[in-house]
Amino acid sequence: MVRAQCPADPCIVLVGATGALGATVLELIGEHRMRHREIRLVASAQSAGREIPVGGRTETVHDLEEFDFAGADLVLFCAGEAVSRRWVPVAMAEGALVVDASGAFSLHPEVPLVVPSVNDCLLSERPAEVVAVPSGMTVPLTVLLHAVERWRGVRQVVMSTYEAASGLGHQGVEELLEGSELTLRDPEAELPADRFHPALAFNVLPAVDGLQEDGTSREEQRLVQEAQRVLGLPDTDVAVTCVRVPVVSGHGAALFVETAAPVDRPGLVELLASLPDFVVHDREAPGSVPTPLTAGDPDRFHVGRVRVSPRTSRGFMLWLVFDNLRAGGASTLLRIARIALASRASGKRLKNSPC
Ligand SMILES: NC(=O)c1ccc[n+]([C@@H]2O[C@H](COP(=O)([O-])OP(=O)(O)OC[C@H]3O[C@@H](n4cnc5c(N)ncnc54)[C@H](OP(=O)(O)O)[C@@H]3O)[C@@H](O)[C@H]2O)c1
Repeated sequence: MVRAQCPADPCIVLVGATGALGATVLELIGEHRMRHREIRLVASAQSAGREIPVGGRTETVHDLEEFDFAGADLVLFCAGEAVSRRWVPVAMAEGALVVDASGAFSLHPEVPLVVPSVNDCLLSERPAEVVAVPSGMTVPLTVLLHAVERWRGVRQVVMSTYEAASGLGHQGVEELLEGSELTLRDPEAELPADRFHPALAFNVLPAVDGLQEDGTSREEQRLVQEAQRVLGLPDTDVAVTCVRVPVVSGHGAALFVETAAPVDRPGLVELLASLPDFVVHDREAPGSVPTPLTAGDPDRFHVGRVRVSPRTSRGFMLWLVFDNLRAGGASTLLRIARIALASRASGKRLKNSPC
């Protein structure tokens, strides 16, 4: 069953409502970032019956295994790849628009992978039944590269990420905090290492989301493939090293971009400042470069330390930091949902399906 139109005040289902990303989505919905007439919360059986406040009301969490998607206009999947692979088709069969944050369909050729202001025109060209949300790091990277490509051309990108524990959800944060407390009490203590191997507390892990046979990590592979797909530039040379750092929340990245034509610093700063949801922290007092703790507005991407390559003007470096749960997660997810709903309300027939 496919509903061709979605109402302006949709019935929203949030799958993964008790997780780190789901809780942040609810925070934003509580701040009136998404109109709705009804919201239904879903998680695993262990959370069923839990009561969660949402914008002045209290909602009960339902067990996904027993949940009926009938009547849902918009289903937000924030519960991991395995859950999405199994349940997205079920939600689609009930005619709901699905917005999936798990990455399960990021590379599916029939599912649009959307970054607002870069390629959301995909949704106006062909309204979707399911839309994939890129990883948090893909969003600012592609917004930036999209603009630089038009400005001076992109030859090569080299990026190192510094990713926070909350990128692995509530359990990632709990394990970091527990390990940190144990170490402070006893530097020789054996630390929990279920979510991070070895333990993340007072450590830095140069592999995010498991290494593959070719030596790259899944996170690195996803980032490169997503960036190439969103930009529509499958041959863009993007080299990434993803690193997990003992920070609770807030991802960082150091970026080098080699351009086709020379760049000048004032022009580059002006370009960065013009990007949607970007804040440039330029030439402030020493020590005021943006950090996960001090960057400011959690719904924006913060750049600092903007430098043109000293040896050649065909390249520049910068530091990027953002709240992975807000700017890189829930804010982007809800923006995509709003665009997809509006597009769907325009009534065009839908054709894409990963199933
Ligand atoms: N964390 C981030 O920065 C971030 C950013 C963008 C996208 N994402 C993506 O969002 C998804 C969730 O991440 P998270 O960080 O929020 O993880 P999390 O804190 O571990 O939360 C996972 C959520 O999924 C639910 N869940 C897990 N297994 C389930 C099952 N079998 N049936 C029903 N519900 C189930 C959990 O419910 P219970 O509480 O009942 O177990 C919980 O609500 C992942 O795909 C992640 O890649 C995360």
